[in-house]
Amino acid sequence: MTLRLAADAAGLARAAELLRDGELVAFATETVYGLGADATNPTAVAAIYAAKGRPRFNPLICHYPSAGAAFAHVAPTPLAERLAAAFWPGPLTLVLPRRPDCPVASLTGAGLDTLAVRVPAHPDALALLAAAARPVAAPSANRSGAVSPTSAAHVLADLEGRIAAVVDSGACAVGVESTVLDASGPIPVLLRPGGITLEALEALAGQVARPETLSGRPRSPGLAGSHYAPSLPVRLQAAEVAATEALLAFGPPPPGAGAVFQLSATGDLREAAARLFDGLRRLDAEGRRLGLAAIAVQAVPERGLGRAINDRLRRAAAPRPRSSGERP
Ligand code: TXA
Ligand code: MG
Repeated sequence: MTLRLAADAAGLARAAELLRDGELVAFATETVYGLGADATNPTAVAAIYAAKGRPRFNPLICHYPSAGAAFAHVAPTPLAERLAAAFWPGPLTLVLPRRPDCPVASLTGAGLDTLAVRVPAHPDALALLAAAARPVAAPSANRSGAVSPTSAAHVLADLEGRIAAVVDSGACAVGVESTVLDASGPIPVLLRPGGITLEALEALAGQVARPETLSGRPRSPGLAGSHYAPSLPVRLQAAEVAATEALLAFGPPPPGAGAVFQLSATGDLREAAARLFDGLRRLDAEGRRLGLAAIAVQAVPERGLGRAINDRLRRAAAPRPRSSGERP
């Protein structure tokens, strides 16, 4: 049984106690719901990988109530300090070298010598992190490879019975995950587009390197292949739609779809990001109920939050592994 906790003082105190006891607790951040565990407790962290069905080579983000708390565990460069000052609390994750005395379990970072850290901009998350009084490892609270959750109901649909509790803070405001930036070197590297736009990062950092321009294997272990996948196939850049398809619309929709979910009638990228994962989940359920064959998606511009939206949509449309088992 998974406890549903209200996001009031009593609920947050209970959630913090469960985390300290090594239990798994899902909680809201401004981006998506996270599946939290005490990052210093290897058994608790192992339970995250098990509950999600997540491969152990894919490291987790550590959440802190303040930049000071985060930088006690990782060593910031001057640029990382400026990024933190500008964007924390907020949807930016910084990958930095672990300090030698970092108490975070090695499994949290999948054995790497870097650790991904962030300070979320959500009052309930910050209250929970302060009350737990330890770093909280939290990937998105979905089964591995599935669509990320932006409500407590989404979390329960994937993880009911597999986790101790979920704190219900309502819907997440940003709706796509944090931007992951490797800030360990002189030029930061964008590992995953997210809630802080590339344009905003470039305005502060000057140059930001993009992984697609780097040679060699992806530098973020979680970035390969299919992810965010609903059970129906996903077709991108749809200008027309068939009656056998569900349509994820952005702006004025073409006629004829079997079902429609509008991301933003006015073409607002913020609104679209906030509605993206709920839209994918709803169309998937509706499409299966109606016996539709696919989800068609209208084009979304590749700028601002559109980069994060398109990244998630491309991975939702990527070829699926043959078994429906573990996906990164
Ligand atoms: O908005 C978010 O970031 C949410 C909320 C809950 O904070 N969390 C989240 O976590 O999206 P997750 O586990 O779904 O994605 C973390 C990403 C993965 O792509 C992972 O590979 C990458 O961050 N990552 C974590 N640690 C890393 C490291 N040391 N080096 C490179 N990439 C890392
Ligand atoms: Mg995830």
